[in-house]
Amino acid sequence: MDYQVIIPAAGSGKRMGAGRNKLFIEVTGKPVILHTLDVFASDLYCKKIILAVQPNDENHFKDILAGHPGNGKIDFVYGGHERQHSVYNGLKAASGEIILVHDGARPFIRQHTISRLVQSAHDNGAAIAAVPVKDTIKRADQNQVVETVDRLGLWQIQTPQAFRLPILIRAHEQAIEQDYLGTDEASLVEKVGLPVMIIESDYDNIKLTTPEDLYFAEAILAKRKN
Ligand code: CTP
Ligand code: MG
Repeated sequence: MDYQVIIPAAGSGKRMGAGRNKLFIEVTGKPVILHTLDVFASDLYCKKIILAVQPNDENHFKDILAGHPGNGKIDFVYGGHERQHSVYNGLKAASGEIILVHDGARPFIRQHTISRLVQSAHDNGAAIAAVPVKDTIKRADQNQVVETVDRLGLWQIQTPQAFRLPILIRAHEQAIEQDYLGTDEASLVEKVGLPVMIIESDYDNIKLTTPEDLYFAEAILAKRKN
């Protein structure tokens, strides 16, 4: 089933501490953003890639994308101050039935997860990639433990997140009206009161956030080459 994807890429990578957008950092000799784009460029069901970038980064993105196989289906939009604003700007350029949102900083998403998300969004309206929480989770007040939280039913949420397009538009419009800032798209849909389904993804679908994630990234790619 066809879909379009919004890729927020307009962050500044503060926690990575590279002094520039972390999506330009090379992992196994290739910028992070190209690893991410490769997946969607090679997916025939992906009809459009909407890349939200900072105006200052636009030329650099265009340089590294020159000759990329996904080039023909990439539309650029400008990102906003928060990730949610970047996604909303992307949404204005979106069309079709199913829209995905996938962080530029999450390069190891697998094709089979994408197709399951698209199908579930078609059937249920909204579907998000996630993995079961595997650590022990405790709630604390300052540094003192208050309780151990039952892990059953807890999920660590990733992207992609997939939606029927009108649902995501409605969720974003309500968030604007209510001045609500969520940490993902699904939280906006939850606020509207609509169901969000979970699609179990992979633990290696990591987001590159802090410097040690780059070591994990090299290891994941080395393993996949074998
Ligand atoms: N992003 C965006 N617009 C923003 C902020 C973030 O498009 N205003 C994008 C990032 O480029 C990234 C994704 O959203 O692909 C996830 O955000 P995050 O991992 O937090 O990246 P940064 O915001 O760049 O990193 P940091 O929070 O450490 O500054
Ligand atoms: Mg951020």
